[in-house]
Amino acid sequence: MSTLDWNNIGFGYIKTNVNARAYFADGKWSELEFTDDEYIKMHISTTCLHYGLQCFEGLKAFRGEDGRVRLFRVDENAKRMQASARKLCLPVPSVEMFVKACREVVERNMEFVPPYESGASLYLRPLLLGSQIDLGVKASPEALFLVFCSPVGPYFKGGMAPIKVIIDRVQDRAAPRGTGDIKAGGNYASSILSGEKAHTLGYSNVMYLDAVEHKYIEECGAANFFGIKDGTYVTPKSPSILPSVTNKSLRQLAQDMGLKVEERPVAVDELSSFSEAGACGTAAVISPIGSILDIDTNEFISYGDEVGPVSLELYNRLRDIQYGRAEDVHGWTTIIE
Ligand code: PLP
Ligand code: COI
Repeated sequence: MSTLDWNNIGFGYIKTNVNARAYFADGKWSELEFTDDEYIKMHISTTCLHYGLQCFEGLKAFRGEDGRVRLFRVDENAKRMQASARKLCLPVPSVEMFVKACREVVERNMEFVPPYESGASLYLRPLLLGSQIDLGVKASPEALFLVFCSPVGPYFKGGMAPIKVIIDRVQDRAAPRGTGDIKAGGNYASSILSGEKAHTLGYSNVMYLDAVEHKYIEECGAANFFGIKDGTYVTPKSPSILPSVTNKSLRQLAQDMGLKVEERPVAVDELSSFSEAGACGTAAVISPIGSILDIDTNEFISYGDEVGPVSLELYNRLRDIQYGRAEDVHGWTTIIE
């Protein structure tokens, strides 16, 4: 076991043993290779560097109460990377190769899977890069697929403590017929300016609105949004939202708890009617939202300083499956060891 200070790691890069790589050329993928090299050598005219021809994924492995290590919903991430690759006209990794790479990266980095009690986990970052050397703006028939990992702690400082977020119309994250529904790096590039502004003002995150009317909630930083009211789990629906694996899981858990589930447009005006609100994602898990300030209208909505009961129950149910404390009735985990 590595000697890291498990209880105090944040969300950042920590060197591990190996990463996995495969190359697509002449219409086929190479065998997966495993290397301790943290660098990739790239030609200066590789298309991913110039035109953003790349996408990525994020998923976690957890060391459970029983000592076993579980990967959460790896097949869902594989399918989402396929959707991203198709939309970006990149070579599409097979689900089989994606899952094998993730599995083996965990197996070969076991000492970096944080101990059960720490609450930390091993974050996996699959990456697909268009590796064609070219100057023209066109599809890349060559690609590099890689998976590396890093032990991570909470994404937001304070873990499960409610976060303060801001609605700011300074920047749209994604356009309705753009790339918001896939995990393209460019989406994150167009969220940096507003994110930096929010941090400077003392907020954890930005709530992105739809790019047409700036009236409907899209996402909450690098996470989906959900609100709870009258026994219903409500989450926004839009063509420019990333379909979150965590949100999909929470919708199922909400149903299991007897809640109604609604996926539909959620107007900014509706925010004050929720009794609880949260951001959800692999990195964010569930981050309860304590308050939302609309910087343009000055409207301030507070959900209180405590985690709401429904959010807490959802969080506990999700964590129980991830850490092997509850039966995995939906078949979401892959046991690595
Ligand atoms: N939305 C965005 C923009 C994200 O970057 C993420 C993170 O992956 C999510 C939502 C949450 O998705 P998931 O639950 O699959 O991690
Ligand atoms: C994740 O939750 O896996 C993400 O991709 C968020 C990340 C951009 C930090």
